Amino acid sequence: MEMGKKVVVTGVPGVGKTTVINGAMEKLAAEGITYEAVNFGTFMFDVACTKNLVSDRDEMRKLGKDDQKHLQQVAASEIAAMSADANIIIDTHSSISTPAGFLAGLPEWVLRELMPDVIVLVETDPDQILMRRLSDVSRVRDMEGARSIAGHQEFNRAIAAAYAMYTGCTIKIVGNDNHLLEHAIDDLVNVLR
Ligand code: AP5
Repeated sequence: MEMGKKVVVTGVPGVGKTTVINGAMEKLAAEGITYEAVNFGTFMFDVACTKNLVSDRDEMRKLGKDDQKHLQQVAASEIAAMSADANIIIDTHSSISTPAGFLAGLPEWVLRELMPDVIVLVETDPDQILMRRLSDVSRVRDMEGARSIAGHQEFNRAIAAAYAMYTGCTIKIVGNDNHLLEHAIDDLVNVLR
């Protein structure tokens, strides 16, 4: 049986991961290439709700480390179980900014389950991310300055190097700048093709 391609797409909140993923999937579908996109946070949130841990997905990063790690573990094994032979895009985070510091989004117990072919880091200028967060009223965003967002993006690159060492996957940086969404979509399409 041919294994599907597993692509993990990450980026700080509001950088536009989901927008770029949706655009790339639409383009590929026109070529007859299909991917299923799953949001890692949604899997975690469903479990967190059944345990009455949170009432909003933006509360999850404030949970204790052990709770977050347990939710990660369940999400990773559920996603792995559904994705053995399908092409899959996993929309998630290289690291999560928690009150206790950065938490690895893809620790060993998650990577062992997912074993991605590629990890994509979607990035852009911190000022643009700040503006996107401020204009998205549907989410409860942490108040954070551009310098702090820049630090988070740097940390994400550093930790992605560790993920590459563990899995042998490649790391692709996709820039998603204002007015250049099509460029970001094309970059992701080339990774997925
Ligand atoms: P998740 O749902 O992934 O939250 P998020 O990162 O906040 O994702 P968003 O969907 O809000 O942001 P996005 O980057 O996808 O941006 P969007 O496309 O919407 O995760 C929720 C929670 O789950 C996390 O906080 C964490 O607690 C937990 N979690 C997830 N994975 C985990 C893991 N592995 N381990 C532990 N916890 C985990 O775009 C944003 C805006 O920008 C939109 O208005 C869009 O129109 C605009 N935009 C996009 N691109 C452009 C562009 N090129 N130019 C102009 N505007 C643009």
